[in-house]
Amino acid sequence: MTQPLFQKVAFIGLGLIGSSLARVIAAEGLAKTVVASTRSQKTLDDALSLGLISAGFHDPIDAVQEADLVVLALPVRATQHILDVIKPHLSEKTIITDVGSTKGNVVDAAKAVFGARLPEGFVPGHPIAGAEHTGVHAGKVDLFANHKVILTPLPSSADWAVQKLIRLWEYAKAEVICMDVEKHDEVLAHTSHLPHLMAFNLVEQLANREDNLDIFRYAAGGFRDFSRIAASDPQMWHDIFFANKKAILNAVDGFEAQLATLKNLIENEDSHALMGLLGHAQAARQHFNHMLAKKPLMENNKVTQQFTILPGAHTFKGTFTVPGDKSVSHRSIMFGAIAEGTTHVTGFLEGEDALATLQAFRAMGVNIEGPKDGEVTIHGVGMHGLKAPKGELYMGNSGTSMRLLSGMLSAQQFDSVMTGDASLSKRPMERIAKPLRQMGAQIQTTGERGTPPVSISGNQALKGIHYDLPMASAQVKSGILLAGLWAEGETSVTEPEPTRDHSERMLRAFGYEVKTEGNRISLQGGGKLVGTNIQVPSDISSAAFFMVGAAITEGSDVTLEAVGINPTRTGVIEILKQMGADLTVENERIAGGEPIADIRIKGSRTLKGIHMPEDQVPLAIDEFPALFIAAACAEGQTILTGAAELRVKESDRIQVMADGLKTMGIDCTPTEDGIIIQGKGKSGDWSPIFNGGEIESHHDHRIAMSFAMAGLRTSGEIKIVGTETVATSFPTFTALTEQAGLKIQVSELD
Ligand code: S3P
Repeated sequence: MTQPLFQKVAFIGLGLIGSSLARVIAAEGLAKTVVASTRSQKTLDDALSLGLISAGFHDPIDAVQEADLVVLALPVRATQHILDVIKPHLSEKTIITDVGSTKGNVVDAAKAVFGARLPEGFVPGHPIAGAEHTGVHAGKVDLFANHKVILTPLPSSADWAVQKLIRLWEYAKAEVICMDVEKHDEVLAHTSHLPHLMAFNLVEQLANREDNLDIFRYAAGGFRDFSRIAASDPQMWHDIFFANKKAILNAVDGFEAQLATLKNLIENEDSHALMGLLGHAQAARQHFNHMLAKKPLMENNKVTQQFTILPGAHTFKGTFTVPGDKSVSHRSIMFGAIAEGTTHVTGFLEGEDALATLQAFRAMGVNIEGPKDGEVTIHGVGMHGLKAPKGELYMGNSGTSMRLLSGMLSAQQFDSVMTGDASLSKRPMERIAKPLRQMGAQIQTTGERGTPPVSISGNQALKGIHYDLPMASAQVKSGILLAGLWAEGETSVTEPEPTRDHSERMLRAFGYEVKTEGNRISLQGGGKLVGTNIQVPSDISSAAFFMVGAAITEGSDVTLEAVGINPTRTGVIEILKQMGADLTVENERIAGGEPIADIRIKGSRTLKGIHMPEDQVPLAIDEFPALFIAAACAEGQTILTGAAELRVKESDRIQVMADGLKTMGIDCTPTEDGIIIQGKGKSGDWSPIFNGGEIESHHDHRIAMSFAMAGLRTSGEIKIVGTETVATSFPTFTALTEQAGLKIQVSELD
């Protein structure tokens, strides 16, 4: 048997938190002996009969003898007294931790007992978990699972003690975060203590009114939701408010100032500013819920969702409008923000990537209303109006946000840092940092191999350069041109092959002159953008999944309406046509400066394998995962070359697709810059092509959606793990596939 983590654990206090941790220790066999001391004999008896402890005491001195871990799981105000009592009985190797919700006062209590030289083993902690009930019976072995535990190691804390506690809490399946004491108390003052204070205060305010009975009788869901936490234990909150007095009073000051602002706006009937404030708050709430709640999981490479598709005869039919173009949505926010005047956007993609851009500009002081039903109004601040963000800018999964913003932020007066999720944190950023440095930017890629975080020092005078792009990348091209808006003189880039030109088109729509001469694009710095209206077309990259789905399904008939067919994006149409797909582009028109059309595709004939034309590669760069699914269903071999860029997308799309295709029984060979796929299709035969199996999507939305389409031709169940990133570009994906006839079961993973 391996050595348990501890020889003897002593709990001082054994309520909900203590007994839950004791349950984890028992279930995982983490200690040879577990004992406890509490005042209540009943608690000790219950703990003994539940098998949580082998001995119980009333005197903490008896409990801590020879313990190598002491857990203080009792009200925080008792800390100093207990430490005083047990001090002579602790050894140098005893780890002492606690579970209280304030930390500064626990450290003060320890200092009062031990003096300035605190024991090496003293590491305060705070599991952020709770339940309605208290007491030894209320404890649960999974109380901490997927909850955060904050440890606040002190300068005196030894690493061995911290590491051992981290392991202990990891056995409880908690997510352990280390923070300093002041930070902990400040964060908790805002996120927990202030809301409790406000809830108690509001209930008190209403309870004191003469008509309080009416108020409570008619109180609707809003009051009930808001006041729920005012039902918590008054003694505990009394203690917390005193224990964390300084940080809480600061938070209350902030609240009062914000309330005064809001009051003022109502008093003065400032509708514009009030809408801005409410819209900002609503969007921030949505953003924190959807994206930031997942941020630690995504940064830690965890997956939170999976798709399951069962085999069966599927149809694939209907007329659909897929969400707005991701590239155009990003740019509409960026350009609207630095324009003079107001920009109205319709058809905006309310996916996490574009929302990350939107949130970043809000963090830089731009007033943005919406998004609501795809509508966004941006009150531009002009070329010199962005303000320093208060913290790092989190870009989630979005390479476009990070690379384009690298250019814009390099030209600002303030410093900034951009971070991303597990996928973005692996993507190359030197490709944009290098040319920006040549322009005079101070930009560092602080990740391991030229990867994020990206750190930028502001206040640099940029000068225009000419740059020969070593790779066909619209993001790098755009990042350089955007820095060029603030640079002295001309900035120009030459691209090896044409890439999407949304930046050029949209800058012109905002009144900024951009020259395109063959593959050379240039602009002069020092001009200005003027707010305008932007109509975002439907995203051809999202439509591509439905095109492929229809092309591989017998009898299908799908129309995708108002899809952007900018010629720098239509590679997928050209390639599918060359593969023999029954595809027509109808009703071509111009909307908001971009060409759009309805695309109709029918499953009337078996596709055939081709050597994909290299000149179409940059024009279909995001569509290859879907096209590989089409190739697997085609008759004969499909070869792709000249597409090495696929290896540095949200995942290595060549390797990840090859792995997934092989899992599903497709013979394929990845090459340095492409892939060879042996299609299993036979002319006129619509039987299943894929075996099913479990696919890893590697934090890549397009991998997930492509393999979902394979569900239309599968003989076995397909499980796609890590599908939460689909929300980055196509939040309505599963709803629309279901309408078309492909049922995808979505399960949230713990
Ligand atoms: C994009 C450019 C492309 C594309 C990405 C969006 C853009 O990336 O793959 O999804 O909006 O400029 P690269 O510039 O890396 O090719």
